[in-house]
Parts: sequence; structure tokens; C-alpha cells
Amino acid sequence: MTIRQTRFTLAALAGLALLGACGSGDAPAAPEASETATVLDNGMTVTEVVDARQTHLKAVGKAFKTISDNLKAGEPDMAAIQAAAASVPTETADMGYWFPEGSGPASGVKTDALPAIWENKADLDSKIADFQAAAATLASTAEAGDIAAISEAFNATGATCKSCHETYRADD
Ligand code: HEC
Repeated sequence: MTIRQTRFTLAALAGLALLGACGSGDAPAAPEASETATVLDNGMTVTEVVDARQTHLKAVGKAFKTISDNLKAGEPDMAAIQAAAASVPTETADMGYWFPEGSGPASGVKTDALPAIWENKADLDSKIADFQAAAATLASTAEAGDIAAISEAFNATGATCKSCHETYRADD
């Protein structure tokens, strides 16, 4: 869903760049663009895929910080917690498509995704499923509004982030 929106936006930008280039005579296409412009099985370039997953993960990181800050606050802002918790399943609904073959560091695109992802796809998928289940529970628990239960669901979800990062993300 969201990954397609990103693709559309980036494709529109690329189209604009091409239009701009039309006026500049017969200059050949920049050769350095070809490597990262390789189109993957999902129809996106490596750069688009990596940008999309990093953008979604940044948003998830921000939502997690909001929840964490509020859980530590004397008077937590329940509406802020609920909105942040609800955003996580939305941001990550298509996480199963974020790591297509060819979108690792060997592509030349800067990414913290480790090559181990593509050697253990079944394990990655099971970590994604664990995370998505925990995030769904966190969202529904936040909706119910009990701080102690939210705190527990938050920690359980955080453990699934950590479990994936330990194995599949660089610098962690
Ligand atoms: C199934 C694996 C997996 C799960 C689950 C996961 N992550 Fe990640 N995360 C990654 C990988 C891989 C990267 C590196 C992505 C890249 O650079 O292409 C990453 C990167 C990030 C980044 C950095 C994004 C950027 O480029 O600035 C943040 C922040 C982040 N994750 C937060 C979280 C949080 C918070 C959770 C849990 C709520 C979570 N992640 C769950 C695998 C995962």
C-alpha cells in the first residue's frame, strides 16, 4: 500500500527529471545512475525500495519514541500513545515486501540491511510475522487505555524489533 505510494511519488519525480533533461540536447544519460536504477522483481529500483523501507522504519522509530516518552511521563498523553500505536501496523503492513532479492548492500545503495536477510528469508519472514502480531496487540491494547497493559505490550513489541535488528541490521 504505502510502498506503492512511495513508488508513485518517486516515479513522478524521475519523470520530471527526464522532462527537464529533454531541453539539454543530446547529453547521454548519467552512467552512474544505471546501477541503482536496476529494476527489481517488484518493479521498483533498489534506491526506491531502500528509501521506502527506511522512511517507514523512521516513522516507526518516531512512533516508538512517542510511546516511550509518554510511558515515562507523569501524566501520559493517552491520545498521543493511541495514535502512535495505531500508526505502527499501518506503516508496516507490507513489510513482507520490503526486502526483495537484490536490495541488500551488494547493490551499492547505502543500507543497514545485512546480507544475512537474503540467506535466511524464512527466518526473516517469521520475525516479521512476530513483529506484526505484537504491533497489532500493542495497537488494540492502546485503544483499551490501560497504561500497565500498554507498557507490557510495548515491551513485547520492542523485543521483536530488537530480535530482528540483532541479526539483520548493521550497527546494532
Ligand atoms: C524483520 C526485521 C525488522 C523488524 C521487525 C524491525 N526492524 Fe527496524 N530495521 C530493520 C532493518 C533490516 C533495518 C535497516 C534498513 C535499511 O537500512 O535498509 C532497520 C532500520 C530501522 C531504523 C533506521 C531507519 C533509517 O534508515 O533511519 C529504525 C529507526 C528502526 N529500524 C526501528 C524499528 C523499530 C522501532 C521496530 C519495532 C517497532 C523495528 N525497527 C522493527 C529490520 C527490522
